[in-house]
Amino acid sequence: MGICHTCLCSLESGAVKNLQTGEITDQAGAMIQICVSAPVGDVSVDL
Ligand code: FES
Repeated sequence: MGICHTCLCSLESGAVKNLQTGEITDQAGAMIQICVSAPVGDVSVDL
């Protein structure tokens, strides 16, 4: 639900949309919450 932040991981490539805020993140190395993120095309994340 985007509250606890334990799912944070690093975006390696591609773009994701935060389903709570609508924000698009496409910077490699950005920390994203995978539980509330949807891929926008092909995405690679560092799990
Ligand atoms: S913020 Fe808790 S699992 Fe993603």
